Amino acid sequence: MLIKKPADIRPSEITSQDNYLSRRKFMRAAALAGSSLVAGEVFSAAIPDKKRAKLSGVVSSEYSTDEARNSYDDITTYNNYYEFGVRKEDPYLNSQGFNPQPWSIEVSGEAEITGRFALEDFVNPYTLEERIYRLRCVEAWSMVIPWVGISLADVIKRFKPLSSAKYVVFETLLDKERMPGQRSRSLRWPYVEGLTIAEATNPLPILAVGVYGEVLPNQNGAPLRLIVPWKYGFKSIKGIVRMHFSDSRPATSWEIAAPHEYGFYANVNPEVDHPRWSQARERRIGSEQGSGLQSLFSATKQDTKIFNGYGEQVAHLYDGLDLRKNF
Ligand code: MTE
Repeated sequence: MLIKKPADIRPSEITSQDNYLSRRKFMRAAALAGSSLVAGEVFSAAIPDKKRAKLSGVVSSEYSTDEARNSYDDITTYNNYYEFGVRKEDPYLNSQGFNPQPWSIEVSGEAEITGRFALEDFVNPYTLEERIYRLRCVEAWSMVIPWVGISLADVIKRFKPLSSAKYVVFETLLDKERMPGQRSRSLRWPYVEGLTIAEATNPLPILAVGVYGEVLPNQNGAPLRLIVPWKYGFKSIKGIVRMHFSDSRPATSWEIAAPHEYGFYANVNPEVDHPRWSQARERRIGSEQGSGLQSLFSATKQDTKIFNGYGEQVAHLYDGLDLRKNF
């Protein structure tokens, strides 16, 4: 999906780290001053300075697939995260020094409750769930990934969106120093994605904080990223710093880069080809190994499923919508 286009870089909307840090220091001090652990502390306790830390209190989900999962190595070394480079290995190679702590999320727009929330306060009210989902990239490859996350629908409920809130818009951190890919004009930064309110409050989308029961690695979007399993992977925005309730449809990063190639809806659909390649089949990453001679004859390709196989849960969202026009 690599496209070179000039981009207007928008100024950061992130408030100063100093303000944020002093608030965190205050909160830690308050916590140490004798309060007892609340249920949600599970998550903050599990965010360590060292990598590959186990998350605790994770429950399983009825929405998980029992398909064979991709290996931890597949999931963490074959990535798209243009903020760290455009080759599949770049996010793994270039994000090791990125420190996703402290982190905060700004909630803004058409909602009763808005403000800036430390990651821990944002995540802690919810139960961590393992959701084993298929991920289908618009580039016609796929994986099965055991995410750990919280229900986006539950998060949205907490902020009490107004009836004028028709869309939920997400933004990735804008920081050219820490995200070297943002020095290039491969996309307009920060990365922006969005869902309709109906999509965002469907039970399937999650905000992921982990994979394979461990804290999310940087290359997969630490510390917080969206997962929308029936849409092409580019909707599943990484490194989220802002959630905005909007009355109008946002211009999203890939739509801005190539509107005839990447639509707002981006529902997985075998019948609507990308202008430069077919979407009828997909390559399951990792399936090349161990399948011997067969792999030489592209037997590792499988049929793409409408809505990536999640039609039962989401097809009703698009009743009466022309999926060809609204691709
Ligand atoms: N989010 C940001 N901020 N930047 C990106 O470049 N790439 C998207 C999506 N989220 C991307 C992003 C694309 S194209 C895909 S396929 C998925 O992340 C890949 O997620 P994964 O690397 O965890 O498999």
